[in-house]
Amino acid sequence: MTRRNFITISSACAVWLLTGCGGGDNGSDSSGSSTPGSGSGGSPGNPNPAPGELAIPPLLDPAASGGVKQFNLSIQAGSKEFFPGTQTSTYGISSDYLGPTLLMRNGEQVSINYTNNLAEATTMHGHGMHLPAAMDGGPHQVIFPGSSWSAQYTVNQKACTNWYHPHMMGTTARQVYMGLAGMIYIEDSESRSLGLPNRYGVDDVPLVVQDRNFDGARQFVYNPSRMQIRQGYMGDTYLVNGVIAPYFNAEAKSLRLRLLNGSNARVYNFGFSDGRGFHQIATDNSLLPAPIAVNTVTLSPGERAEIVVDLSANMGSTVTLQDMATSKKILDIVVNKEAGDNSAVPATLARSLQFPGAESAVRTRRFVLGMSRMRMTINGKSMDLNRIDETVSLNEQEIWEVSNNMGVNHNFHMHGTHFTVIERDGSRNISANDSGYKDVVFLPPRSSVKLMVKMTDFTDAYNPYMYHCHVLEHEDDGMMGQFVVV
Ligand code: C2O
Ligand code: CU
Ligand code: CU
Repeated sequence: MTRRNFITISSACAVWLLTGCGGGDNGSDSSGSSTPGSGSGGSPGNPNPAPGELAIPPLLDPAASGGVKQFNLSIQAGSKEFFPGTQTSTYGISSDYLGPTLLMRNGEQVSINYTNNLAEATTMHGHGMHLPAAMDGGPHQVIFPGSSWSAQYTVNQKACTNWYHPHMMGTTARQVYMGLAGMIYIEDSESRSLGLPNRYGVDDVPLVVQDRNFDGARQFVYNPSRMQIRQGYMGDTYLVNGVIAPYFNAEAKSLRLRLLNGSNARVYNFGFSDGRGFHQIATDNSLLPAPIAVNTVTLSPGERAEIVVDLSANMGSTVTLQDMATSKKILDIVVNKEAGDNSAVPATLARSLQFPGAESAVRTRRFVLGMSRMRMTINGKSMDLNRIDETVSLNEQEIWEVSNNMGVNHNFHMHGTHFTVIERDGSRNISANDSGYKDVVFLPPRSSVKLMVKMTDFTDAYNPYMYHCHVLEHEDDGMMGQFVVV
């Protein structure tokens, strides 16, 4: 065992001990309704599954100390056996690949303490989190090798599925590719009272979907050519929670899947092999007002969707989640367990969402995703850490009009807030996955969207938030800008 491996493993163990992976939730949730992981018995998650079985990242729900929930995470190098008998060099967060799921409740004070045990600098961004810019973990909040950084804030948003990942200038794509990413579950009193499936890893299952290329020695290949940067770097092997096209043993009941497109560039069209319908219950940043019946959901990089599929009539069979775009398998759902409860999809979900109309906007900003002088740009400009591109006033309703004038896929993500999509390609007919509150919106070739944007908190004339294309090769190549809120 090399010294590096030893350090990796011992620090991972230390973190699990500190955070109590034995399901140490001692009743901080006073609502009396169930909470993820509470129904499964034993520790929530299944980080070391049988060969071919879906791994479930551990669910961290640390007890608050001094009123603050402390998440202690180690960013580290390691290796993982994706293929039997071969170790692939990886990065992970308190793990060999990916990181634990962080459970937060609206109103809680949290401190996410990251220690960088890599030999290179990184950052750790809370994607979808509504927090002050200085706590955002963007490219300005660098964590140098051997040092630590804490994101400290009060959770202040509705229930949703967010994630965390590096945001280091120029190296985000490679660092994510190596394995740095994890999920954040945010709950609120509403989400807990709806009777939705919420036994973590049992009927409420996080799925981090990624694509990777391996070389002949089964090591990750990340060395995109200029052409691959332009197209976005895609892999031929699909991983779910770090396992190649796995299976999952499910109960014969409604199953909630929290889909995260954690890939650098690939756009997935999720659906089931038998064409069955399902319900989309959440988009990126909130539950929907009501479930929407769909047959497929398309997610571009960074987007999330929560879906519920009814397996109650499928005992003894296997239902396959696949990418309809390539017909490749993502996950075999083996229905072989009796229903442990009768949670399902209620008729209404988030009741108090506000959807501002276009007439309330005081200005329109335009963002054109394109290329100039061989670099990926927004409004003709390549990202510059020393340039503030936009200054946004607190509480002013704006329209952000974003267009892709290229022949490749892009999307648009903004930090610190969420938006609603009011128009796509001139039409006000909004699809299920463009509904609700979002923080990433897909922009296929030569398309445009209009977004309703309002910054409601956290003025800071010094620390900017980012907006960018979430195709990570494009982001690293400069398709990113900065705004401050004043
Ligand atoms: Cu998911 Cu600016 O990032
Ligand atoms: Cu983000
Ligand atoms: Cu792009």
